[in-house]
Amino acid sequence: MIPSDVKATLSFSDGSPSMDLPIYKGSVGPNVIDIRKLYGQTGKFTYDPGFLSTASCNSTITYIDGDKGELLYRGYPIEQLAQNCDFMEVCYLLLKGELPNPQEKKDFDRLVSVHTMVNEQMQFFLRGFRRDAHPMAVMTGLVGALSAFYHDSTDVHNPEHRAIAAIRLIAKMPTLVAMSYKYGIGQPYIYPKNSLSYSANFMRMMFATPCEDYEPNEVLVRAMDRIFILHADHEQNASTSTVRMCGSSGTNPFAAIAAGVACLWGPAHGGANEACLNMLGDIQKQGGVEKIGEFIKQVKDKNSSVKLMGFGHRVYKNYDPRAKLMRETCHEVLGAVGLGNDPLFKLAMALEKIALEDEYFVARKLYPNVDFYSGIVQRAIGIPVPLFTAIFALARTVGWIAQLDEMIGDPEYKIGRPRQLFVGSEPRHVKPLAQRG
Ligand code: SDX
Repeated sequence: MIPSDVKATLSFSDGSPSMDLPIYKGSVGPNVIDIRKLYGQTGKFTYDPGFLSTASCNSTITYIDGDKGELLYRGYPIEQLAQNCDFMEVCYLLLKGELPNPQEKKDFDRLVSVHTMVNEQMQFFLRGFRRDAHPMAVMTGLVGALSAFYHDSTDVHNPEHRAIAAIRLIAKMPTLVAMSYKYGIGQPYIYPKNSLSYSANFMRMMFATPCEDYEPNEVLVRAMDRIFILHADHEQNASTSTVRMCGSSGTNPFAAIAAGVACLWGPAHGGANEACLNMLGDIQKQGGVEKIGEFIKQVKDKNSSVKLMGFGHRVYKNYDPRAKLMRETCHEVLGAVGLGNDPLFKLAMALEKIALEDEYFVARKLYPNVDFYSGIVQRAIGIPVPLFTAIFALARTVGWIAQLDEMIGDPEYKIGRPRQLFVGSEPRHVKPLAQRG
């Protein structure tokens, strides 16, 4: 962090002593006011529920410019990474800070491949679930259960232990997601095949059966790989902040990632892609494009809790660059699978056009986010709707791990422990039960 030569001065109208607060500059983006000494010197906390004006850490991993609609992983624009790299190169970049050269990529691909199997005991955790359990409930359980297999071999303060835990998690998430899918449809699990690329291996574990050979469709594999790239990391979002907070206690990295999976499930966060597709399906059932006006009216009605899922973002006040790339992928995939006239895609594009011209959305700077089109692509690839957020968790695992590693590797890090503004009862005495009216 670079100290700014400008400082902030906090003064109080009741004559309490004022206080100078240092300001630090990042390499790009907003500066920060360092309030670490505020409580010690003033006895006051800052108040920022939802952290709209709070930087929880300093980071070198992902930068978002919400006004410009920019997203950079380690300085590289997401558009260029989606165009020129595969997901394994992006994982290497997020973990190590630089893109791999051809030999480094070959070694990394191999290292991940040889960790794709899970312990045979893992299948018995699945048996405890009903076949119709939501995949995110299963994934929260399975990822948490992974910690039982590595708890004794993971000293989170040992960088080598953190590195192998990162590889294990990146490698095993596709296997676990595919197992949760196969369990739900009553088909046998398909073991990883290490001669395949990461995304082709995942598609095979998802859609192959022991009864016949399976040839991955290259267009769909590339689309799946791009979905992983677009979801890999996203600064200090809710689930990443959960992983950082959970990991700050020194817990097992597998347990911290399980906490991230649980947080991502929410419809305001990673669960939005499933909610968005269900929303499009409901509008389609009610009459499709002709019904959009009525739906938008509900969204604008403050008494209804209806939201346009896949729209809006805490940071992006312009178009989410991932949504643009996802819309392009929609065209490619729908064309490849003969769904060029997919009614839901047409409905989504009509809904987007109407929303972007409507004052309610314009005034609130509500644009499509990554979840608006990702569900349509995943559905065209053959991913069932309830599995969308599990795919998001699979992709985001590398970002969670990179952020956790950055935090634990920072000698200044402390366990997270925010304070509060207490507005409850002042001290009072307990009356014995017999005296309570
Ligand atoms: C992800 O943080 C990340 O980076 C997340 C993510 C990542 O990669 O990790 O990008 C992934 O979670 C994307 C977001 C997915 N969620 C959705 O699509 C759900 C629908 N969107 C919203 O619920 C909402 O936009 C949030 C939660 C995403 C952001 O909400 P904020 O920033 O807290 O803003 P807000 O709820 O205070 O909304 C501001 C105004 C409100 O209206 P007013 O009270 O000012 O009149 O905009 C309205 C909201 O009612 N609004 C919406 C809306 N989103 C906000 N109105 C209708 N439909 C929406 N989708």
